[in-house]
Amino acid sequence: MANYLQPLLMTGLLFAWVVQAVPDHSHFFYQDFLNGNGKKTFRMNGEKLNVDTSKASVFSLRGGNATLPCRYWYEPELSSAKMVRVKWSWVPTVGGQETDVLVAVGSRNRSFGPFRGRVHLRQDGPGDATLLMTELQLNDMGRYRCEVTHGLEDQSSLVDLELHGVVFPYQPPHGRYHLNFLGAQQACEDQDSTLATFEQLYQSWEEGLNWCNAGWLADGTVQYPITQPKIPCGGPGLAAGVRNYGRRNRHHHRYDVFCFSSSLRGEVYYLQHPLKLNLTEAQVACQQEGAEIAKVGQLYAAWKFTGLDSCDAGWLADGSLRYPITRPRINCGLSEPGIRSFGFPPPQHKHGVYCFKSVTE
Ligand SMILES: *[C@@H]1O[C@H](CO)[C@@H](O)[C@H](O)[C@H]1NC(C)=O
Ligand SMILES: *[C@@H]1O[C@H](CO)[C@@H](O)[C@H](O)[C@H]1NC(C)=O
Ligand SMILES: *[C@@H]1O[C@H](CO)[C@@H](O)[C@H](O)[C@H]1NC(C)=O
Repeated sequence: MANYLQPLLMTGLLFAWVVQAVPDHSHFFYQDFLNGNGKKTFRMNGEKLNVDTSKASVFSLRGGNATLPCRYWYEPELSSAKMVRVKWSWVPTVGGQETDVLVAVGSRNRSFGPFRGRVHLRQDGPGDATLLMTELQLNDMGRYRCEVTHGLEDQSSLVDLELHGVVFPYQPPHGRYHLNFLGAQQACEDQDSTLATFEQLYQSWEEGLNWCNAGWLADGTVQYPITQPKIPCGGPGLAAGVRNYGRRNRHHHRYDVFCFSSSLRGEVYYLQHPLKLNLTEAQVACQQEGAEIAKVGQLYAAWKFTGLDSCDAGWLADGSLRYPITRPRINCGLSEPGIRSFGFPPPQHKHGVYCFKSVTE
């Protein structure tokens, strides 16, 4: 039964490939399945296809590039290479469907959705299916699958794309524990960031993040990082650690959120201005500079990646008042580096402002 069906299936596949076959000068495509007299010589007997991404994860920065390695080969080695189909797909860190990134057969290739124009195959010799990504965005984080198909053989391997960044707790203007999961996702996006993963929060905890309010993470769990156990935070008897409320109802349960931001293509700065400004005046003053009032995620990114340090409290886009300290000193609020927050003052109050000016290509 199987022996009878297989040649038919193969013929069908071959036909599809021949139709797609166009002359090609890359290393990728070897048109060896039709020999001189037009007879099909297509063997897959005993040759095992292998696919390897060689790394568990690749790190980069927002705005940067990434190289996701992938290699395929046969055992035993083929006398001549064969045409394969390479497909890269992606499962976002925040969850959801696996979606197509790029498909290549011979010289034909297509990239999809938000990846269009930002992904290419390296094709650095036979068997190289490495994916090159440019202009990385926060949303690109996640698990990538390199899948190689040859006839009926189909092998794949996984690699995670992660970005270096900074985790920050976020609470909206209307106060503590007001966000369901969707609201939390939106709140991070509004601050030019994305929901933090557990791994990102854990790393921040290792770096000293101590926060007594529970917040949503990308996987739909609610957790909070404690490095200095105290009475109002579950008591001094409880050990330090990332405390986990587990998976909560995404619609009905409400908490704060932990957001994640990476480096910026642009600059955050405290606006030198002769007057103190109310919130509307602050927005206008940044616009007059060809900039915009900075978002919370941008302030954190500038603090983390460019060492922004300023003792002046300034308005941010969400109506909060904050300042960034990388070199702690007397009269600058913090004994440790961090972003000092003064909550959400009435918008008519007069303060300074932080602006963000993006780098335009
Ligand atoms: C990313 O790759 C592009 C094209 O290969 C290159 O022009 C650019 O300089 C790279 N960017 C960074 C940040 O390395
Ligand atoms: C993908 O297709 C484009 C044209 O659509 C071509 O310029 C490019 O070389 C192809 N890349 C690969 C990896 O085949
Ligand atoms: C800020 O001051 C301007 C006048 O300079 C006024 O029109 C505006 O309503 C004030 N905005 C707030 C939020 O108080």
